[in-house]
Amino acid sequence: MSVITNIEDLRVIAQKRVPRMFYDYADSGSWTESTYRANSDDFQAIKLRQRVAVNMENRSTATTMIGQKVAMPVAIAPTGLTGMQHADGEIKAARAAKKFGIPFTLSTMSICSIEDVAKETGSHPFWFQLYVMKDRDFIERLIDRAKAANCSALVLTMDLQILGQRHKDLKNGLSAPPKLTIANILNMMTKPRWGLGMLGTKRHGFGNIVGHVKGVENMGSLSEWTAKQFDPALNWGDVEWIKKRWGGKLIIKGIQDVEDARLAVNSGADALIVSNHGGRQLDGAQSSIHALPPIVEAVGKEIEVHMDGGIRSGQDVLKARALGAQGTYIGRAFLYGLGAMGEEGVTKTLEIIHKELDLTMAFCGRTLMDAVDKSILLPGTYPS
Ligand code: GLV
Repeated sequence: MSVITNIEDLRVIAQKRVPRMFYDYADSGSWTESTYRANSDDFQAIKLRQRVAVNMENRSTATTMIGQKVAMPVAIAPTGLTGMQHADGEIKAARAAKKFGIPFTLSTMSICSIEDVAKETGSHPFWFQLYVMKDRDFIERLIDRAKAANCSALVLTMDLQILGQRHKDLKNGLSAPPKLTIANILNMMTKPRWGLGMLGTKRHGFGNIVGHVKGVENMGSLSEWTAKQFDPALNWGDVEWIKKRWGGKLIIKGIQDVEDARLAVNSGADALIVSNHGGRQLDGAQSSIHALPPIVEAVGKEIEVHMDGGIRSGQDVLKARALGAQGTYIGRAFLYGLGAMGEEGVTKTLEIIHKELDLTMAFCGRTLMDAVDKSILLPGTYPS
């Protein structure tokens, strides 16, 4: 294998090693994928100002997210079916994040359960992402389970009560565990490492759900299950009872609009995430990095603002930070590392992003993450 130097290298390996159904699930946006592409393309248009002859010694990318210390302003985003990219994927990614000193966010739609991940990560608390379903008993128990596992933040997703259509998932008949159709078996036979890993674990279904929701043994297709179980009536009033039951740090995920950002502030949340769900929900929405500045301008003094969407390098992290995001999240960037090489691959992702972030910060004449602001960007090249 040639030397891995960037996230694209990991993506290429993941594409070879992960069964098509799961690789496609991670790598898709909805409909034409225009928002998915804009998320990363719009970062490219933003230009940096190089400074020279600034003492570059003693640099640090460390900062905080919701008051918690982080080695860099990057958290692992909640992604569904992570344990299908690689056996026990959530446990492996959580371990890599713990070693690196950044938060790991476990998705409701994970393969490893809250309890599985808690057992492995011990004293380093992870964050839990919540989807609200019609079965409120189940949601209350889920919140209680996250509390019992010592999760140090609840990330409440507000933009996926209905599912944006991703063509490939429907064509591939996405499910977990995968259905043993001839096409799937033939494709999986070309992924021996993945298969061996999967033979070594019992975790093949949705660990937080199967056995915890009445009548759910087999989830059939993901899109059908979501349509049946997720609560399309979710509203800001629900945030109130969720916040009360949870009682800890609350992060609202999926904000694109200034008016919704204002409502997130009113909900009493500790942070909001500017996000279009990785371009997987409303295709045609603006990129996250374009949505960020007006939201920071409107509510940045009242609530901590984070962002996700399109981050494939440390330079992207720095640009988001310069535009006012206190923290960022990586989804696909870590999934590629995981699919390519398991825990070691996630560590590789974090090392690559950290190095790019640290060097770029220095080229821009800054030695401390907390000293980065808009003045590192070239006027006229960034959204406002
Ligand atoms: C669910 O979180 C998805 O985007 O598939």
